[in-house]
Amino acid sequence: MAIDIIIRNYESKDQERVLALIPELDTELSKRFDINPSPEEGIKYYKEHYLRENTKYSTFIASKDEKIAGFIIGHPTVDMAEIDHLDVLPISSDWLPDDYYVAMTFVSQSYRNQGISKELKIKLVEYARECGHKEIWSYVGKWNEHSVKANRSLGFQEQEQDKRYRFSLKL
Ligand SMILES: CC(C)(COP(=O)(O)OP(=O)(O)OC[C@H]1O[C@@H](n2cnc3c(N)ncnc32)[C@H](O)[C@@H]1OP(=O)(O)O)[C@@H](O)C(=O)NCCC(=O)NCCS
Repeated sequence: MAIDIIIRNYESKDQERVLALIPELDTELSKRFDINPSPEEGIKYYKEHYLRENTKYSTFIASKDEKIAGFIIGHPTVDMAEIDHLDVLPISSDWLPDDYYVAMTFVSQSYRNQGISKELKIKLVEYARECGHKEIWSYVGKWNEHSVKANRSLGFQEQEQDKRYRFSLKL
């Protein structure tokens, strides 16, 4: 990874610069999925869910000077849709689900292929381990060659599920 890239916790002062990356992310994903949110919709979603304070989400960013090259977002999961769609876990703060889910990893085009996504993932793995979760996992489309490679080289175990893999790592 480029030595001048720093991986750190997201702070509210980063919000505008993270949100500025969302149209690029949505444009890229819309080529693969049948979704096409307007730039405003994508930004609104991230602002009101992933980047809102006091939710279940944790975000780490990769920054270079004042620029943000990418981010990773994760959250505890119980793998039950009726709970996992909520932004705040409806449970007491001392209850810890075994599983932690990687919701999104994104690195802006001009910073790619420098190992940044892997460093972001290593940071999230460390965080989930420190919190006391037992396993971290995510789904990755088989088309997503670089994400598949990153998970494999970080030692995640894969399970084939139709058009995607479930990648998981015991913590
Ligand atoms: C997937 C994504 C996060 C990867 O980010 P990145 O910082 O460029 O990835 P890294 O540099 O950490 O490289 C990850 C792996 O892909 C390989 N790779 C990355 N870019 C590559 C390229 N242009 N050519 C060949 N291999 C490449 C790396 O060599 C590495 O493989 P290795 O561990 O076997 O050496 C980035 O492409 C992205 O944001 N894509 C759009 C959003 C997305 O799909 N997110 C993932 C959702 S599951």
